[in-house]
Amino acid sequence: MLKIENLVLTVTDPDTGQETEILHGNSFELAQGQALGLVGESGSGKSMTLRCILGIEPSGARVDGSIELDGTDLLGASGEALRRIRANDLALIAQNPHGALNPVLPVGRFLVEGMSDARSMSRADAEAKAADLLRQVGIPDTERVLHSYPHQLSGGMLQRVVIAGAISGDPKVLLADEPTTALDVTTQAEVVAILDEKRREHGLSMIFVTHDLDLAAAVCDRLAVMRDGEILEIGTPEEIRDRPRTEYTRALMDARPLLYPEGHEPAAFLSSTGSVDEEAGS
Ligand SMILES: Nc1ncnc2c1ncn2[C@@H]1O[C@H](COP(=O)(O)OP(=O)(O)OP(=O)(O)O)[C@@H](O)[C@H]1O
Ligand SMILES: [Mg+2]
Repeated sequence: MLKIENLVLTVTDPDTGQETEILHGNSFELAQGQALGLVGESGSGKSMTLRCILGIEPSGARVDGSIELDGTDLLGASGEALRRIRANDLALIAQNPHGALNPVLPVGRFLVEGMSDARSMSRADAEAKAADLLRQVGIPDTERVLHSYPHQLSGGMLQRVVIAGAISGDPKVLLADEPTTALDVTTQAEVVAILDEKRREHGLSMIFVTHDLDLAAAVCDRLAVMRDGEILEIGTPEEIRDRPRTEYTRALMDARPLLYPEGHEPAAFLSSTGSVDEEAGS
């Protein structure tokens, strides 16, 4: 599905002309339906990796290597072809849902505008589809939410809306960049569960970026540990946990806060989606 080989990102300081290599030749593959976790401390290059895939690297940056999606080389694709692939096949879910939503548009309009087939639908059909998307992400009170503006909804609710928007376009790959960092812990778990469920239902591939090793291990088939722009190792969560191949991974494991005493981890953590009507109000 997604195959990245020897990815190098180089940025040039506009004032001094000095070049800095940010990603140092990373390779990984992502099969259909699989989830890969990108973990590593701040500044290790997780977001930059996603930006290279999306083609939104900083201006003046150079991307070398190859990024293949379903056999198409994204770095070789021309402007229009690349734009189409990005719009159809990739969906980004970022840390802050406010960034993805237009503050002056009601949520329903955002969802309808994102639908690839909206033009061939009547208004009523498009609205029905938007309501259905909201129900799919555990929002029962669709009428009210569709007519709300982003500022009228909580972060958790908005992130659900963004996920609904992301799956509406039937992408092949979800790129989730710390999608729950801005949320409180309970809402985090709910939003992650929804993301996971939608991914499985739609057979999507996903790159899940997070600082949180435990969360990544719960959601992903494989983890890639990044440091200073380099992928140090890739393995299943069990391999990374039980047989870390680098000191750095071991340190990262040791440094992670233990949310639950060992042996008391909540087994049901990701087992149910639940639906929330925290803001149903009336
Ligand atoms: N616009 C930019 N121009 C040049 N370098 C940048 C730019 N943005 C980030 N960098 C550098 O790229 C490196 C990787 O940054 P990146 O944002 O990918 O880290 P990250 O792993 O996503 O960190 P975080 O967990 O804090 O989000 C960092 O060294 C950072 O200083
Ligand atoms: Mg980042």
